[in-house]
Amino acid sequence: MSEWKKTDWRSKPRVQMPDYTDAAALQAAEAQLSKYPPLVFAGEARRLKQHLGAASRGEAFLLQGGDCAESFEQFSADGIRDTFKVMLQMAMVLTYGAKVPVIKVGRMAGQFAKPRSAPSETVDGIELPSYRGDIINELAFTEEARVPDPRRMLQAYTQAAATLNLLRAFSTGGYADVHQVHAWTLGFTESQKAEKYRELANRITDTLDFMSAAGVDRDTAHTLQTVEFYTSHESLLLEYEEALTRLDSTSGKWLAGSGHMIWIGDRTRQPDGAHVEYARGVLNPIGLKCGPSMTEEDLKILMARLNPENEAGRLTLIARFGAGKVAEHLPRLIRTVQKEGANVVWVCDPMHGNTIKSSSGYKTRPFDSVLREVCEFFSVHAAEGTVPGGVHFEMTGQDVTECTGGVQAVSDRDLSHRYHTACDPRLNASQSLELAFLVAAELSKLRQQRESRAAI
Ligand code: PEP
Ligand code: CO
Repeated sequence: MSEWKKTDWRSKPRVQMPDYTDAAALQAAEAQLSKYPPLVFAGEARRLKQHLGAASRGEAFLLQGGDCAESFEQFSADGIRDTFKVMLQMAMVLTYGAKVPVIKVGRMAGQFAKPRSAPSETVDGIELPSYRGDIINELAFTEEARVPDPRRMLQAYTQAAATLNLLRAFSTGGYADVHQVHAWTLGFTESQKAEKYRELANRITDTLDFMSAAGVDRDTAHTLQTVEFYTSHESLLLEYEEALTRLDSTSGKWLAGSGHMIWIGDRTRQPDGAHVEYARGVLNPIGLKCGPSMTEEDLKILMARLNPENEAGRLTLIARFGAGKVAEHLPRLIRTVQKEGANVVWVCDPMHGNTIKSSSGYKTRPFDSVLREVCEFFSVHAAEGTVPGGVHFEMTGQDVTECTGGVQAVSDRDLSHRYHTACDPRLNASQSLELAFLVAAELSKLRQQRESRAAI
């Protein structure tokens, strides 16, 4: 491990990365980025790793969520605030239901690069290179827009820094104070779930009033007034990752300075490929997407490569099989993990295996499939006697119509109303909250089972 260099990935086979044509511009952007401060610090990444270690033992639960792809054009303080708000609401629902701390990790402040299923896209007979995320090229369907431009890395860095700055302010500046539990409700989430949330918020406020009257909140004031909020993204554009890699002087280890947690996508997890090579050398918590094509053998190699010391919280396996396919794939991978005695956090991404094309032509995800995959994930873990450690969602605080279904019953025809995603369809605030209640119910069922077993 000590021989690892941040440039080693360059000699490995790479997929899903752009071929920059302007080598001078690429070098200039990399040189500039390497001089910029890291966005996160080693101590924070280590702390998140500890929390994830707790999640692997069922003592905490991971809530990871945010955009599929952050966008330069839609960048706004309101957008960040609303996603942050919904995550706080969801975390509250989960904490209340599961009675364990919820680790909040945004797909934010760096989630700009996208793997694509095809290298090009054809519209009305015109074929152009695919859009690969704002850090690489532009969504507009013109030849010029689709040319990868390395200068976009600098804009992505600036946006990530501004986003993280706001998130840090929200987390510790009073906004996330649990006494604000009512104020986090978004104006448009007028649904049964919003009502259910209000009831829960009332109960929490009552508890807080009681604690205050009894004088028991003095020592916990700081805990109640602030939250820890972490950032994460897919570590796809390795020139960007390398340029932000820093040596942590306390431990002598390398840190991916681009975000607290990074993950390897389902399309870039080749054990001998560039993306695994980069991720194995940094100290951050690493996520690994596991789709139906993940073999037991590859998983075994990947676990050894990415977590050779079998450290708790280092490796999170993000299962994304699709509704109806979990029972076929998850048990075989769980057994591989058990057989290796590997420390992992199991997380459910019910989004990426459930994308379909709607009758109106939009890429969508039926909310029922999302719910179903979450339920299947929990029941497989119950049957295997293993720990469901968290969930991973593509969601936004905006009132979009991108996934069909939910209590507001978004239909195929409604998709065109507010379809704003630059890439995959996201859950809106109301759908996200509904999902949080479902997950909370599953977690509280688990807790009751554990308690009744302990009582026997
Ligand atoms: C994603 O998380 O946006 C993504 C592309 O996921 P996956 O690699 O699982 O397809
Ligand atoms: Co996506």
